[in-house]
Amino acid sequence: MTDSYVAAIDQGTTSSRCIVFDRSGAIVAVEQREHRQIFPRPGWVEHDAAEIWTKVQAVVAGALARAGLRADELSALGITNQRETTILWDRTTGKPVHNAIVWQDTRTSALCHELGGAAGQDRFRQATGLPLASYFSGPKVAWLLDHVPGLRRRAENGEIAFGTVDSWLIWNLTGGTDGGTHVTDVTNAARTMLMNLATLQWDPAILAAMNIPEAVLPEIRSSSEVYGRAVGRLAGVPVASALGDQQAAVFGQTCFGVGEAKNTYGTGSFLLLNTGERPVPSKNGLLTTVGYRLGGEPPVYCLEGSIAVTGSLVQWFRDQLGLIRSADEIEPLAASVPDNGGAYVVPAFSGLYAPYWRSDARGVITGLTGYVTKAHLARAVLEATSWQTREVVDAMYQDSGVRITSLKVDGGMTVNGLLMQHQADVLGVPVIRPVISETTCLGAAYAAGLATGVWRDLGELRSHWRPDTEWTPRLGAAAREGEYRNWRKAVERSFGWYE
Ligand code: G3P
Repeated sequence: MTDSYVAAIDQGTTSSRCIVFDRSGAIVAVEQREHRQIFPRPGWVEHDAAEIWTKVQAVVAGALARAGLRADELSALGITNQRETTILWDRTTGKPVHNAIVWQDTRTSALCHELGGAAGQDRFRQATGLPLASYFSGPKVAWLLDHVPGLRRRAENGEIAFGTVDSWLIWNLTGGTDGGTHVTDVTNAARTMLMNLATLQWDPAILAAMNIPEAVLPEIRSSSEVYGRAVGRLAGVPVASALGDQQAAVFGQTCFGVGEAKNTYGTGSFLLLNTGERPVPSKNGLLTTVGYRLGGEPPVYCLEGSIAVTGSLVQWFRDQLGLIRSADEIEPLAASVPDNGGAYVVPAFSGLYAPYWRSDARGVITGLTGYVTKAHLARAVLEATSWQTREVVDAMYQDSGVRITSLKVDGGMTVNGLLMQHQADVLGVPVIRPVISETTCLGAAYAAGLATGVWRDLGELRSHWRPDTEWTPRLGAAAREGEYRNWRKAVERSFGWYE
């Protein structure tokens, strides 16, 4: 029997990757390219969608070349992507009408406040599972329609397409102006703030409130089905999955059962808990979102704690403060002292996301004395990630009644053993990293391979998952809770700086 190969594209916030997997879920080849971050004004973040498409084509070609495979040897192609980032393009020319507005961009804060009106931040929460915040796509679409001259009229005439990055890539992969398929999947649609969580369809009342014409919207499909076949260099390969990157990591970590959770440590960190076939509303600052939907099966929902700044705090410590030269220097520096010396860093660089959703918050460092050195600060920088995660885990418990008994982790920061140990210490449960920690691409590959018969079922995928490293808690409850109180005091100091 010849082996089957599945390729996955992970179009992320800072780079695009393509990974080819074999039938056992092992990595055969990887290719990665960064793209430009465009900062037109403070708080604004844009990407060039055309550049992203070029880089995606390059990483696919590169990964195939490294794997020594021809396109016709791929059984399927899966897509996973940075979520919420918003692209509008001309259906006739295939050209984006503006730079993509990235998820981190805060330009719609005032618009969100206005949309909330008397009902406030939770106006659309029941329908969408989301608080009104600049993070999500809907208000970004509204902003573009209002600010690009002539765009609203063209959109109403059906000349313009909206998509999150998955839609943009699928449309281009399947032919673009020459008959490309305009679709999105339920996990990406769930982050637009335009989809109703119960019907899994665009919500007419929200579209009306945000003044977004239906003519721009893609069709909402499941996360695992053949949307179309690729043209060009990948001619004939079925494009067979799409999942937002955090949901793809849930799938790659095989968190298929109710109560299973994973945390991905990247630019930010995103902790998702599988809550099964019914959406669980949050009263504690979490998002209710779709985890995945396989073809015509019922959807699986998740509670999500989104933390905007974790890995990017280490970058800030390196690039803006210049206290280390490379990111990997932070671990030995932090390990050179036994504790944080009383210092806490709250990285509210663009307000705070979960569980606070405070756009008025800004970063603070507390507990400074003459005793504190850069090594203590390095420790406080790392600890900021684990404390923010602890807050999210507490909110999950309050919302769902599910107490996690271990946490599956993945993402770049999990190479940092000091951080992972602290994470286990402050949660009081073991933290486990799997052998294949490229779970985002793996999840997209799994969903594509399920749709095309490479893998049989979820049980087979689960059998691939193997633990690699486990960190068990060492800190006593009294010390842990005492430090947690300090952290929360520091968080309170970050409120009320900006509106
Ligand atoms: O919601 C934003 C998230 O999808 C971004 O993920 O890994 O591209 O920073 P990442």
